[in-house]
Amino acid sequence: MPRGAILLAVDGPQAADYHRMFLEHFAGREIRLWPDQIGDTADIAYACVWRAPHGLLARFPDLKVIFNLGAGVDYVLADPALPNVPLARAANPDLSMRVTEYCVLHALMIHRRQRLYDAQQRERVWKGHDQSAASEVTVGVMGLGVIGAHAANTLARVGFKVVGWSASPKEIPGIETFAGPASLDAFLGKTEILIVLLPSTPSTDGILNLALLRKLRRDGAAGGAFLINAGRGKLQTDADILAALDEGSLAGAALDVFPQEPLPPDSPFWTHPRVTITPHNAGDISPQAIVADIGRQIGRFENGEPLDHLVSRQRGY
Ligand code: GLV
Repeated sequence: MPRGAILLAVDGPQAADYHRMFLEHFAGREIRLWPDQIGDTADIAYACVWRAPHGLLARFPDLKVIFNLGAGVDYVLADPALPNVPLARAANPDLSMRVTEYCVLHALMIHRRQRLYDAQQRERVWKGHDQSAASEVTVGVMGLGVIGAHAANTLARVGFKVVGWSASPKEIPGIETFAGPASLDAFLGKTEILIVLLPSTPSTDGILNLALLRKLRRDGAAGGAFLINAGRGKLQTDADILAALDEGSLAGAALDVFPQEPLPPDSPFWTHPRVTITPHNAGDISPQAIVADIGRQIGRFENGEPLDHLVSRQRGY
């Protein structure tokens, strides 16, 4: 009887890559594939999931650990039938670096006014504009977990002034940090480019509303306040972002995530001249890196050692 079979349930374009990597990495162990190669549900000890349908995990009576193949576990935690076994999320230098690339790219696009130069290029206009140094611009990172801290440190190395905010106190050498609701306004008042890397939880959903966006610093060297959301779509209220852009409390936004994905074809964001859209790919990771992590985690678990990156169901991340 197969011991400790691994179920792989990935919804999305990376499914085939994951399958190949799992077969290579776990040679000798049974890999079961959702949806049509699950086999005897009692064999499944580990489930590796990305947006697998709710209710699926409850079908495995001997399930020991759930591994989420991404950083955000909101989708898994929303499963009303989620079995009560440890849940670990992906946390890996490759993932942190990719999200950081996205943050640095869009912070620099804003800072160096790339949209303006793109527009000028289309019109064959050769014209420079005043350019401040990155050290005059304050970037504020909301969410200082593994990824947020990595992005904050990298943005500081690029030269930006960086401040950070998180729900619980975090210390990052060289970066001024703020914690908890009471210090949010002070953080926002310094921040010109707001980068959001928070998890989606009942206390963060909807946090990016008009009242918050109005508190960002608009009179700094960046020439206005800007939003970069690479966290979760549920954090933001689309109508409030549009209203903030219209009234000028926001000068621009780069959005990788949306409350409704795919972004509906009639969303005003598609054609908004000051909005940049990407299809929730800021954190697309190499399956290879994640598979190696899961191999290590299973090894630790089977040796009776504690798992890394365990999710607290109470906190929601
Ligand atoms: C991507 O959205 C992730 O949660 O890793």
